[in-house]
Amino acid sequence: MIFYFSGTGNSKWIANQLSKKQQEDLFFIPDAWKNDTWEFSLQEDEKIGFVFPVYSWAPPVIVQEFIRKLSLKGYRQQYLFFVCSCGDDTGLTQQVMEKALAAKGWTCNAGFSVIMPNNYVLFPGFDVDSKELEEKKLAEAVPALERVNRLIAEKEYVFACKEGSFPFLKTRIINPLFVRYQMSPKPFYATDDCIGCKRCEKSCPVGNITMRDRKPAWGNNCTACLACYHVCPQQAVQYGKKTKGKGHYFNPDSAY
Ligand SMILES: Cc1cc2nc3c(=O)[nH]c(=O)nc-3n(C[C@H](O)[C@H](O)[C@H](O)COP(=O)(O)O)c2cc1C
Repeated sequence: MIFYFSGTGNSKWIANQLSKKQQEDLFFIPDAWKNDTWEFSLQEDEKIGFVFPVYSWAPPVIVQEFIRKLSLKGYRQQYLFFVCSCGDDTGLTQQVMEKALAAKGWTCNAGFSVIMPNNYVLFPGFDVDSKELEEKKLAEAVPALERVNRLIAEKEYVFACKEGSFPFLKTRIINPLFVRYQMSPKPFYATDDCIGCKRCEKSCPVGNITMRDRKPAWGNNCTACLACYHVCPQQAVQYGKKTKGKGHYFNPDSAY
């Protein structure tokens, strides 16, 4: 079983490739809330995987909450791995995952990061990649993921996450501040360029957008994934003044 979360499709692409090669079913993490599904029964030879984007040098809050609530019936030390996608580096994501899984009594046997196009645009100086870099990352992700897929197929005990510089500062100091102060959906709004196409509503993984008078309105349940911003064909979704002049990205395999 592969549990995955994705906002703009990079991690969804990874989860799909893993599912095909490992012949494991996929479960989209937000569906646990939607359908109140927290218990999964495991087969003896099943692999357990978690796939997600790195958010502020840690697994997204929704992924950590899911792991806290998850119940794996028939867990007998089956091979357990995670694959995270990131624009640059992971900080101590591996440490956070290992701790979260250990708290459940589960052993994390392998963990990988795959560099994918960046979708974070809300900090000053942060933007999507140039078209050239985006294409390079997408092309290089194919052999990188093939290697990860092979290692998982062999049930290798390997950790290969790109930690980057100052991992402690990023994960232990900046991440808690990000979770506390930078995840609010309140600044989202749609400009007059909005054509009411509902793509933002459809792309929101947690159903936080409803259409009112043919324009999106945001509720309080936001994962900060930025799918609504990136998916807009009119570039009408904005986040206060922070998105002014910033670029857009959505994984080409996951277009809405
Ligand atoms: C809120 C947020 C925080 C992010 N933080 C990081 C980060 O700490 N390090 C990094 O390399 N990329 C970061 N990114 C970029 C994403 O991890 C990357 O683009 C990822 O592939 C997006 O996956 P998705 O398309 O499945 O949503 C962040 C993106 C978002 C939306």
